[in-house]
Amino acid sequence: VKILAIIGSGDLGQLIAYHALQTNKYNKVVFFDDFKKNNEVVGYGTNIGKTNEILEKFNKNEFDELIIGIGYKHMNIRAKLFNEFYNHITFANIIHDTSYIEKNVSLGEGNVILPGCVIDCNSKIGNNVLINTGCIIAHDATVKSHCFLGPGVNVAGFTEINECCIIGIGTTIIDNIKISSNIRTGGGAVVVQNLTEEGVYVGVPAKKLNK
Ligand SMILES: CC(C)(COP(=O)(O)OP(=O)(O)OC[C@H]1O[C@@H](n2cnc3c(N)ncnc32)[C@H](O)[C@@H]1OP(=O)(O)O)[C@@H](O)C(=O)NCCC(=O)NCCS
Repeated sequence: VKILAIIGSGDLGQLIAYHALQTNKYNKVVFFDDFKKNNEVVGYGTNIGKTNEILEKFNKNEFDELIIGIGYKHMNIRAKLFNEFYNHITFANIIHDTSYIEKNVSLGEGNVILPGCVIDCNSKIGNNVLINTGCIIAHDATVKSHCFLGPGVNVAGFTEINECCIIGIGTTIIDNIKISSNIRTGGGAVVVQNLTEEGVYVGVPAKKLNK
């Protein structure tokens, strides 16, 4: 039984803490949060320090595994913190019991897969990806590192979502599509063409929002 450290003790950090504690793999959760006082109890755990103390506390065995609990409003920080500690600290994969991941799926580190997801064969999930409730990722699809998928996203076969994308709730992406890095889709978007230009895409079929 292990101690999980979560970076960020806000709403997402608390959600991850709740699910981690349900798995029986972790008996305790601690947080690192630059905006909270040291030793302050925040929801499911205590804030044991600032992000610049993470490595030192890992080396002192104050926790076993790390995960990023910073949400989609701060995508750059999500990626930056993961990259800073990748290869130095063991990252967790928090996967809900009700999610089915086919055996030959390639799954990196630091991923959170919330309840009721299905990831079918030959698919690849990078590192530090959050897959919200009820997502379906069909066969041979790729979701690269640091992406954030909202609830109920459907990704069809052979589709590729590159790094740091935010895929909005209920987005459907048809098969064989390529989505470039740093792209966001709105709730309910239906993507039927490759998305190559950075920006926000909404509607059916998804079109770039000009703002
Ligand atoms: C797409 C989105 C990011 C845009 O947010 P925003 O930049 O604040 O944009 P606005 O609300 O100002 O909307 C701009 C225009 O896009 C339209 N629009 C916004 N979201 C849309 C959507 N999902 N589908 C279709 N049109 C949408 C608005 O109606 C508005 O149109 P108008 O200019 O004709 O009035 C947001 O609306 C959205 O869909 N977010 C999804 C959030 C999500 O998935 N959350 C789950 C997290 S776990």
